[in-house]
Amino acid sequence: LAEIDVDISQVAEGQSITAKWRGKPVFIRQRTAKEVEEAKAVDLGSLKDPVARNANLPSDAEATDANRAAEGKEQWLVMIGVCTHLGCIPLGQSGPYDGWFCPCHGSAYDTAGRIRQGPAPENMAIPPFEFTTDTNIRIG
Ligand code: FES
Repeated sequence: LAEIDVDISQVAEGQSITAKWRGKPVFIRQRTAKEVEEAKAVDLGSLKDPVARNANLPSDAEATDANRAAEGKEQWLVMIGVCTHLGCIPLGQSGPYDGWFCPCHGSAYDTAGRIRQGPAPENMAIPPFEFTTDTNIRIG
């Protein structure tokens, strides 16, 4: 299926679900205020991958937290849960940057899914998606 609808009404703050889109896991997380703050506080110059990797934005958009999060709903992060190194599935809420940690070779991502440490070259990708209602996300 090209498009999927995901009901997020049961995803409370601090929780995540994993949807499946085009055979890949898509992490949908309602971030805590602290996680959003941490992501916003990051100096963009310190990022290994400076671009947003967000399919909903121009390809040269900067990797700010706003450009990684859902538009107008900054607590929501929707991203393809595949490590950009060799494709393992990172573990949530772990690692030195409180985001995701890939156990395969130690890549660490922050609370906006941006690569911060380890061999992965890029931020985890944001798929095309939109909120069709406050509780439904359409991916694809
Ligand atoms: Fe994730 Fe290598 S596949 S660090």
